[in-house]
Amino acid sequence: MQQTLADSVVWITGASSGIGRALAVEAARRGATLILSGRNEGALRGTASLCAERRSGAPRRPADAILPFDLADLNARLQAAQKALGIFGRIDILVLNAGVSQRARFTETAPEVFDLIMETNFGSAVDLTRAVLPQMRERDSGMIVCVSSVAGLMGAPWRTAYSASKHAQAGFFSSLRAEFFGSGIQISMVYPGFVRTAISENALSGDGARHGELDPLQKSGQDPAETARIVWDRLEAGALDIEVAFDFKARLGVFLSRHFPKLFVRSISKHGGL
Ligand SMILES: NC(=O)c1ccc[n+]([C@@H]2O[C@H](COP(=O)([O-])OP(=O)(O)OC[C@H]3O[C@@H](n4cnc5c(N)ncnc54)[C@H](OP(=O)(O)O)[C@@H]3O)[C@@H](O)[C@H]2O)c1
Repeated sequence: MQQTLADSVVWITGASSGIGRALAVEAARRGATLILSGRNEGALRGTASLCAERRSGAPRRPADAILPFDLADLNARLQAAQKALGIFGRIDILVLNAGVSQRARFTETAPEVFDLIMETNFGSAVDLTRAVLPQMRERDSGMIVCVSSVAGLMGAPWRTAYSASKHAQAGFFSSLRAEFFGSGIQISMVYPGFVRTAISENALSGDGARHGELDPLQKSGQDPAETARIVWDRLEAGALDIEVAFDFKARLGVFLSRHFPKLFVRSISKHGGL
């Protein structure tokens, strides 16, 4: 059964900014009821207001819910998952969008910082999936969407943990998808190239400090609202792997890394990554 947004309950992580906020607003416009997660409660309220504005005039529905918590904290995320399941009695679509990037060489990244990135991006995605699957299986219906990255399709310097976490997501969810093939549960991956968000500013340096600089590729990236429209169009049409905001550089990078690894590594090490 194809999952559409109208009248669906959608839980989005990383809904306080960037792509997650845009996905939330577009889902609201298409008739979904939302559970919005992130750490920044004020920013989540901001997203909820934008969602309410986008559906003004639509028939009355339950108000969206805000569920702030830290994904890197194991207990917090397990508790949050149970709460999320109870808010509207079900989750139809889980969007695992939250993520943190990295700007430091492997040798200069503290092990705790490396682990924090893996937990935030990958460990949490596995745990939230484990939590929502039983009720999706009971109804034989649902969708799990994981937002990976072009760095989940190729490596990039100063992003060893980030790229590893994004490859891990791709491996995990494409394997899981095969286990649910033929069921009513859709498992989809999104691979953004370059979207105009604060991802590089929020990236972690080797000591865990915020990087604080906007990368040129993000600065000139796609408008997140456009990204969200494309992603939901494709998800509602049943797409499993979605490359979005993939400019020529992203396409070339993935192609070279697969087919011409020597040329790729020479080029990417010179230009400083994505
Ligand atoms: N922008 C791009 O060009 C691009 C390219 C490829 C992939 N992506 C992926 O797209 C996704 C969204 O990123 P974005 O570009 O929208 O960047 P962003 O604006 O920095 O958003 C990241 C989101 O993740 C949340 N988050 C980070 N750490 C968290 C934690 N420990 N606990 C809970 N929430 C946490 C943040 O919320 P709080 O700060 O409120 O916690 C924020 O809402 C990420 O998975 C990223 O890897 C982005």
